[in-house]
Amino acid sequence: MNAESTDTILAIDFGTSNSLVGALHRGQRIEALKLDPSASDPTLMRTLLYFPNADECYYGAEAIQKFIENDMEGRLFRSFKSHLPNASYLGTTIDQRILRIEDLIGIFLLELKKRSEKILGTKIDHAIIGRPARYSMDAVAEGFALHRMNKAAEFAGFKKIEFVPEPLAAALDYRRTLQREKVVLIGDFGGGTSDFTIMKMSPSPFKKEDVLGVDGCSLAGDALDSVFMSERLNRSFGAQTKYRMPMSNNLLTMPIGIMDRLNKPSLIVHLKERETYNFLQEVKKCALTNSDKLKLDRLFILMDDQQAFPFFEEIERTKRSLSDHKTAQFNFSYPDLETSEVFSSMEFEKWAEKIKSTISQAIDRCLEQAQMKESEINLVFLTGGTAHVPFIRHEFENRFGTEKLQGKSFFHSVLSGLIEAAQLKP
Ligand SMILES: Nc1ncnc2c1ncn2[C@@H]1O[C@H](COP(=O)(O)OP(=O)(O)OP(=O)(O)O)[C@@H](O)[C@H]1O
Ligand SMILES: [Mg+2]
Repeated sequence: MNAESTDTILAIDFGTSNSLVGALHRGQRIEALKLDPSASDPTLMRTLLYFPNADECYYGAEAIQKFIENDMEGRLFRSFKSHLPNASYLGTTIDQRILRIEDLIGIFLLELKKRSEKILGTKIDHAIIGRPARYSMDAVAEGFALHRMNKAAEFAGFKKIEFVPEPLAAALDYRRTLQREKVVLIGDFGGGTSDFTIMKMSPSPFKKEDVLGVDGCSLAGDALDSVFMSERLNRSFGAQTKYRMPMSNNLLTMPIGIMDRLNKPSLIVHLKERETYNFLQEVKKCALTNSDKLKLDRLFILMDDQQAFPFFEEIERTKRSLSDHKTAQFNFSYPDLETSEVFSSMEFEKWAEKIKSTISQAIDRCLEQAQMKESEINLVFLTGGTAHVPFIRHEFENRFGTEKLQGKSFFHSVLSGLIEAAQLKP
């Protein structure tokens, strides 16, 4: 392997659901590397870590394969990027080994780095990494998230680390296709965050002042998956259980913190942790009705047999199907957890109302920063997997007009823009 490391910059789109890596290698653009040979699209590596035990780890598509092969023993982590701004999320332990969130992300980034170095045949210590427009609305949490992300990149062995907002990267990519001066709003809808940039685009060289606004929020594809659980499916796992603890008259309902572990894809890996597990056993003992006890039995099967991950895979498949059809069938056939439900795009949209309005507020803030009205935006470009969702698209059609809407490569724009950012460096 060539020891020269200064002439390659690795561009990393570390996503909540999918990660992509490209490079600027000796001045040449290298588009998405085929980092995950076992994936259906090898350039798209699912952001997954699977630990059968504390000393062994698998990544991407192989993480799922090994998880299934090992009868779903061990721990499978998904959506861990979402924990970055959460100060109370310290990480987890596997056997006796403590893994902080920056270690989990660092382990994943290190693997991306190693695979890229192998493909490119060179050592790399310089990285340009995408980051959401906002990890959090809270300034302290925002700084904290970036600090942890930087630590993760250091853990992976990068010496020179730069961050570029993901929606700005998507804008830089889109800019390459424009010939005339336009004011463009870019929306990047991923798994964890919805991100926006308003940018003046012209064929002349890029200037910082061209960026008129950057904003976003931490609700996107995972939050949409979550509503299937919180609005309907969690009922069959005892989410509405009423219980009374011994020697108490208080009628209690399931605490939100516990339900979050069932409802949120980023937290399901923690559902089985001892405290939660023991608490749920108490709830089952004290549940008022037999029917609730039976539902909690289903929850224990979901936890004991590690079925929460595949259950959410089926939710995600159903959600994607609703992007193309008015109704979609949800089918889960694991013994004693059999579920068959039909979901309609209308109820899905109604359940997602709050998410939609939070996203809408982020667009408002972005327009405010740019000091622009909707009518002053010439083009709207939407990217990211969640941009497929029809009601997200409609929101933009209603606000900006159908004729202004553009959309293309849903998964590669951020990465292409990060490589562009590497090229733009003086
Ligand atoms: N056809 C579809 N309809 C609806 N949602 C979809 C579709 N295809 C993919 N998605 C959703 O897109 C999300 C993944 O998109 P993407 O790869 O852009 O996210 P990411 O870059 O990993 O996340 P982030 O940028 O937020 O960190 C997932 O939530 C997935 O369910
Ligand atoms: Mg993304």
